[in-house]
Amino acid sequence: MNSNKRPDDMKRINTPELAKAFIDEQVEAIRAQVGDGKVLLALSGGVDSSVCAALLSKAIGKQLTCVHVNHGLLRKGEPEQVCEVFGKQFDVNLVYVDAVDRFLDALAGVADPEQKRKIIGKLFIDVFAEEAAKLDGIRFLGQGTIYPDILESDGVKAHHNVGGLPEDLQFELVEPVKFLYKDEVRVVGEALGLPHAMVYRQPFPGPGLGVRCIGAITRDRLEAVREADAIVRDEIGKMDPTPWQYFCAIPDFKSTGIKDGKRYMGWAVVIRAINTVDAVTAEAVEIPWDMLKRMRDRIIATVPGVNRVLWDISDKPLSTIEWE
Ligand code: XMP
Repeated sequence: MNSNKRPDDMKRINTPELAKAFIDEQVEAIRAQVGDGKVLLALSGGVDSSVCAALLSKAIGKQLTCVHVNHGLLRKGEPEQVCEVFGKQFDVNLVYVDAVDRFLDALAGVADPEQKRKIIGKLFIDVFAEEAAKLDGIRFLGQGTIYPDILESDGVKAHHNVGGLPEDLQFELVEPVKFLYKDEVRVVGEALGLPHAMVYRQPFPGPGLGVRCIGAITRDRLEAVREADAIVRDEIGKMDPTPWQYFCAIPDFKSTGIKDGKRYMGWAVVIRAINTVDAVTAEAVEIPWDMLKRMRDRIIATVPGVNRVLWDISDKPLSTIEWE
């Protein structure tokens, strides 16, 4: 039997009851696989790795160690949320690695998007492997692989994900959600007690704000896009239904602004909101004018260095969802 094929008789998990039965089943399966062994998991704070962490924590408690690498390219409040939810609420062994300077130093002066992705992917592996080497007796590696990752291993996500974890770490994989579709992962996540906002958050690229800070990343522009993004998420998050993905990017050019009668150069941020089914094609979402004006006013009033706000109304194709 192909162990990467979802069993034909597996029910679609779409109720809390079915989620609970799945969780009980997986808790048993994880315990049977792992015994008294130790499991290591790279916890990004994304939906899949978070649900995987919560499930492993329920099954094996302190035999699980999660490593959260802060590469400086996460959205505002994300590292704090991971520490709060997993360090405090779930009380897992959590290793928080502040690798911000390492990533930003490695990325300094690099403008090519694929080169940036490669640097981020490789450094992530190096940092994770270093942390793994510091821990004794780890035999298993937890991974939040989900069914579309298996089905679409040559799809959009695989195309972008230059990383993956190092093969020479020699761990046995534990992949408790590998037969679940995204909607099922979310139902299971809620049944495990994860915060709604974490379980229903929009997709976020692995290289994070690194591909939204266009061209060579500088710390000041990176902070500006992080702050502007928090405002955009706050405002567009009020739409009903919320778009599939909404964020902003910051190009690497300046334009003229005027303040206290004096001209000066500042950055522009670009708001983007799209709907899609599979990220292969996408349509720009119509944002209400009042909401656009509120975002404009909040961004210009509070984000240092930004003096212009643009709205990207391009569809995919020809424009990709991300700017890089
Ligand atoms: P594009 O920009 O190619 O994006 O239209 C399609 C979807 O993929 C996400 N994306 C990424 N995801 N690593 C990821 O994990 C990446 O490097 C990456 N680049 C784009 C993008 O956010 C969109 O959902």
